[in-house]
Amino acid sequence: MDLALATRLSLADFHGPETDDPLAPPPDYLEWRAATTWATGLYEKSLLGPPTPRTELDVGGQRRKILNFASYNYLGLAKHPATIAAAKRALDDYGTGACGSPILSGMTDLHRELEASLSRFLGRESTMLFNSGFGGGLGSLQGVLRKGDVAIVDQKVHMCLLDGVKLSGASLVAFEHNDPASLDAALTKASGKRRLVIVEGIYSMDGDTADLPQLLPIAEQHGVQVFIDEAHSILAIGPKGRGVAAHYGMHDRVAVQYATFSKSFAGVGGFVSTRKETLDYVRYYANPYGFSCALPPAVVASVLAGLDVATRDESLRTQLADNADYFRAQLRGLGLDVGRSTTHVVPIVIGDNRELLYGLQYAMLSRGLFLAPVDFPSVPMDEVRFRASVTAAHTRADLDEALDIIARTVVPALRRAA
Ligand SMILES: Cc1ncc(COP(=O)(O)O)c(C=O)c1O
Repeated sequence: MDLALATRLSLADFHGPETDDPLAPPPDYLEWRAATTWATGLYEKSLLGPPTPRTELDVGGQRRKILNFASYNYLGLAKHPATIAAAKRALDDYGTGACGSPILSGMTDLHRELEASLSRFLGRESTMLFNSGFGGGLGSLQGVLRKGDVAIVDQKVHMCLLDGVKLSGASLVAFEHNDPASLDAALTKASGKRRLVIVEGIYSMDGDTADLPQLLPIAEQHGVQVFIDEAHSILAIGPKGRGVAAHYGMHDRVAVQYATFSKSFAGVGGFVSTRKETLDYVRYYANPYGFSCALPPAVVASVLAGLDVATRDESLRTQLADNADYFRAQLRGLGLDVGRSTTHVVPIVIGDNRELLYGLQYAMLSRGLFLAPVDFPSVPMDEVRFRASVTAAHTRADLDEALDIIARTVVPALRRAA
């Protein structure tokens, strides 16, 4: 396959059942992979240390010191002494794994303590833990929606929510991103059906927030409840870190709050918080909950410690917001397109030139900067990008060094390509 053709193709082109054997990938996929190792080699890179601002990465088989803007360690809790000590204590006391589904034998007093702490933190009646963030989003929706229901989702919501709706058998209707008129039309069209509106707190590819002040009144006019995915916003935004709904002073008007432990909590897993009656039902119908092992106690303990550290005061969130504001403003000053971002998730939009995206990734890595590339179909074809995850742990020197590398690589390349 020649390079020009390979560059035009993407993962979206190889999803058909082209072979007789489901275990045999499409031959043109294999050809495409072989022709694009220069790009695919940039995915699944191995960190050789913690997901902190200064760490080490395997770059072409070599151990390299890098400045990391690719990890979701938003509050720097991955290496916080309190989260590490709590995990170590739990390892000693409870062993490595939970060794059972939460329904049968995997639940411990630590899991119950985390459920109660999260419910208190969010002022909600009940909380359910999942061993995966993805499974939590999927399971929460699969647990409540049924065939005949209509899930009305912002077009930019995460795959786990789309998969949850699909698995539930409900119909999926997407409204234009953050567009109240489009939401209104979708709700009107589905009137008479059981409906649920689904949005994200911070959109993971764009770094903007759900426009709740516009959207929520529309949902309320239709008498429809809202489910929010606070994966990137929990602990990171809003008073005490309660998320985007709280940030807009609309916490009590959003019925269901779901989030993951993989980002600001620097662990793994997820949770959903809402009315007790709802979750007492969902526990028995969310397959990723009932048919999968509970979180390891050491993870639960580190999440509990992280919750304590992050809610003690506002300092980590203030640092995060200051760092993100500075980084975004400097990128804009360099003439770069950071899209709609208003948060610590900061895209640098390259456009439709995917060869340039990957070329720049190599150039930045060779200068010691690790930023995640995001290609179609995860983002629109003409908006491929880098996504920078700014954290509270980045120092001003880290931010400036990254900006300098970006100024010396991305800026001239985009100017040349224009
Ligand atoms: C918005 C959103 N929801 C859910 C998830 C799934 O979370 P996890 O990675 O913890 O499985 C992600 C993951 O990146 C996400 O960005």
